[in-house]
Amino acid sequence: MNWDDLIRDLEIKNQEALAGGGEERVKKQHALGKLRSRERLEILLDPDSFMELDRLVAPQGSGVGMADKKFPGDGVVGGSGKIHGRPVLVYSQDFTVLGGSMSLSQAKKICKILDLAIKTGTPVIGLNDSGGARIQEGVMSLAGYGEIFLRNTLASGVIPQISIIMGPSAGGAVYSPGLTDFILMAGPTSYMYITGPEVVKEVTGEDVDHRELGGAGVHSRSSGVCDLVGEDDRGILETARRLLTYLPQNNQEDPPVVDLKDPIERSLKDLFRIIPADAKTGYDIKNVIELVFDDGSFLELKPEFAPNMVIGFARLGGYSVGVVANQPLRLSGGIDSKAARKAARFVRFCDAFNIPIITLVDVPGFMPGTAQESEGIIHHGAKLIFAYAEATVPKLTVVVRKAYGGAYIVMGSKHLRGDLNFAYPAAEIAVMGPEAAVNVVFKKELASASDPEKRRGELISEYRDKFASPYQAAELGYIDEVISPDQTRMKLFRGLELLLDKIDKNPKKKHPNPPL
Ligand code: HXC
Repeated sequence: MNWDDLIRDLEIKNQEALAGGGEERVKKQHALGKLRSRERLEILLDPDSFMELDRLVAPQGSGVGMADKKFPGDGVVGGSGKIHGRPVLVYSQDFTVLGGSMSLSQAKKICKILDLAIKTGTPVIGLNDSGGARIQEGVMSLAGYGEIFLRNTLASGVIPQISIIMGPSAGGAVYSPGLTDFILMAGPTSYMYITGPEVVKEVTGEDVDHRELGGAGVHSRSSGVCDLVGEDDRGILETARRLLTYLPQNNQEDPPVVDLKDPIERSLKDLFRIIPADAKTGYDIKNVIELVFDDGSFLELKPEFAPNMVIGFARLGGYSVGVVANQPLRLSGGIDSKAARKAARFVRFCDAFNIPIITLVDVPGFMPGTAQESEGIIHHGAKLIFAYAEATVPKLTVVVRKAYGGAYIVMGSKHLRGDLNFAYPAAEIAVMGPEAAVNVVFKKELASASDPEKRRGELISEYRDKFASPYQAAELGYIDEVISPDQTRMKLFRGLELLLDKIDKNPKKKHPNPPL
């Protein structure tokens, strides 16, 4: 043997691994509009930054029909790379190799990536394209999934974990993404479900196709499992690159500051046009967000799920912040079970990763009714209270208009350790709206009044003057300052700067017990 032979031998082994499941299967993958595992990593990562690990790991299972299936790499490509110059750990399943199915060897490769990510404090991104547990391996593949789930759980709150669904994610393949912080889906080609259409038909008699059962539409609109949808592979991979810009590398670091050169003192006069002073008229809170935060910086998450609650990342003077806002255009901004769950998970993510939370409040209350009670709004609403109360990151709140009842308390109020609480002069902070309040409190008086409608009008006006304003809250110090809308950007920025080094702690405990 000489060096030339040794290098040639290595080249042959590498080429075998790069071939994946072979030309035919690659063609099929492309014909479906899907890229290959390696092609996806080229888009996700900075050029020439990928360092592959475990390229030569081979399937170990000796199950039915596996004797001639020794694909090196075993259906997943993993390693380290960079995104916008910062290190990441990645793995990308190769559907051309046994449908990207999970074998014990594949699981060991993914576990090595996750272990490295935890040890080095590096975000991890998993590209999922898999038919689930490798059927030929029996319990070995189940063991592999279990090892991955364990690491996803231990890594939670330590490093950001992002899952991108780029094809099938069937059976056990759904639960690793389900344990990570964000799930992104390639719109037309991805689907996730715990069992496929055939099993569904057998068990429930339901006739559904892959898309109806677990397509991006289902998970972005109904289940809320999906955070962001892309138009194709390239689109969602570029979105993942953008998402990372708002996040720190791990829970010990702050998110990167990116100066977008948008002046803090820029005029916000348009807010007077966007927000009607009359609380009965709707408006789009996203227009407020776009105007207040750095130009073009808002990245909305779960836009189609519970649209009455808006969440996403933005920048303020270059600092990464999490934005939570009621949307008056949907359910008048009322908080239902889904909205509470959506915001609670987001607040907890921001808190875990040192991202300040800015809350814009315009909320008539929690949504009442039998549907909400049956869905468990008591627990879901409590999740949101828990998340805000527990969060120790800087918390800044602006009451734009309505802030009634329990919804006032939960949306970043002083009582749940809001650090700086502002309100506009149009804000109404009270137990309930004037009309409902007068009906409850003055029921008897109105029943016996000579002109009930006139008296009702007087009482509503009296109640509005006394309570439906920010001034009682300001007198009590629950609102730190009543501000004009055009001061919002500047006040929030100054507050944020003040709070960046804030230290706050929760009592020592093993872990809390939120109403999960
Ligand atoms: C082994 C698999 C496989 C699997 C697919 N393949 N899924 N091999 N184990 N789970 C192989 C196929 O045999 C085929 O091999 C290749 O991958 C491509 O599969 P096709 O069926 O031709 O592709 P397509 O038509 O696109 O359909 C994709 C699919 C389908 C919908 C994902 O393959 C499917 O239904 N697979 C099974 C899904 C499933 O039930 N998984 C197990 C879940 S149970 P060749 O050699 O022909 O290319 C589970 C339990 C874990 O995961 C629980 C842990 C908590």
